[in-house]
Amino acid sequence: MITIVEKISNHMHMELVVEQASNIIKSGGLVSFPTETVYGLGANAYSGVAAKKIYEAKGRPSDNPLILHISSLDMLDDIVSEISEVAERFAEKFWPGPLTLILPKGKNVPYEVTGGLETVAVRFPRHKVARRLIEKCGFPLAAPSANSSGKPSPTRASHVVYDLSGKIDMIIDGGACEIGLESTIVDVTSDMPKILRPGIITLEQLSVVSSDITHKHSLDDEKAIAPGMKYKHYSPKAKITIVAGDNEKVVSKINELAQSAEDNGKRVGILATAQTFSRFETGHVISLGSADDMETIIQNFYKSLRKFDFYGIDVIYSEGFESSPLGDALMNRLRKAANNRYIYV
Ligand code: TXA
Ligand code: MG
Repeated sequence: MITIVEKISNHMHMELVVEQASNIIKSGGLVSFPTETVYGLGANAYSGVAAKKIYEAKGRPSDNPLILHISSLDMLDDIVSEISEVAERFAEKFWPGPLTLILPKGKNVPYEVTGGLETVAVRFPRHKVARRLIEKCGFPLAAPSANSSGKPSPTRASHVVYDLSGKIDMIIDGGACEIGLESTIVDVTSDMPKILRPGIITLEQLSVVSSDITHKHSLDDEKAIAPGMKYKHYSPKAKITIVAGDNEKVVSKINELAQSAEDNGKRVGILATAQTFSRFETGHVISLGSADDMETIIQNFYKSLRKFDFYGIDVIYSEGFESSPLGDALMNRLRKAANNRYIYV
């Protein structure tokens, strides 16, 4: 299959590209499109056959459900059986935007899309290309992140090209994603809303809408976890180790580990911040940005993991990030990418 890649140059051009893309989706194809979080891989949400194509292209286990993307609140009524009052308040405050709500599934949504679950994940993106594409299709789009399963999420069209070229019909290049991290997922199927996946919309912000909201607790609340979170995730080819703790000690520990890995013939990558960048003595050092600017750090995160792959890096040492609403969302992904390899100094 030849994958068409179209870079959007202006508003008029966007209309033409989106029209083409919607025709592909209407005839059962797959199109990757930009959102404010990461690139999505979209298909007709009402088609079980199209959902299967998504799983195949990504190499994703079919029990890992997809998020349905809508472009108006009217579309919501067609895909859920019920909207609680608290769900309505979250939608009103945070949509369109980087929030996904888990709701009771409507009968039109095929089980192929929900991985057999009676609930459905719904997101109303704010990115104009995403919204226009859904609007033009006239039905919701089932769309996971447009990466190969297990790889870092794509925040640029080139990442999608790298992972999925030849496997999908079209990629719409809308430039870099503004946020660079997947949406916050909140389960609103009970009176006690639960954050299943942390993101740029934080517990503090969500608490304004419902003070009952909590983070899922991974051990005593296993069932509440988004099914996808149990799989290996976000990983570059290299083995990542997180080194956290006192700043000075972190720098010297990483220098020591990097030197020893290099002595053993490994190619070393280091994930640093602007503050520590120049203090690493060896390896391919990438600064994610200033430690005071978590939004920039998050935006550069997946891109940097992919860059290490490009340079054939074998081992990566990453600084840990301090606990804060956004720091925790990033550490959630970093820990998964590192398979929980974590050293505290
Ligand atoms: O920002 C995002 O959410 C991006 C963009 C493209 O919108 N999408 C995204 O999709 O990250 P994906 O498929 O990579 O991650 C969706 C997560 C998975 O962990 C999945 O298990 C969970 O959402 N999920 C989907 N449906 C669910 C449901 N009914 N109950 C619980 N978790 C669900
Ligand atoms: Mg994903």
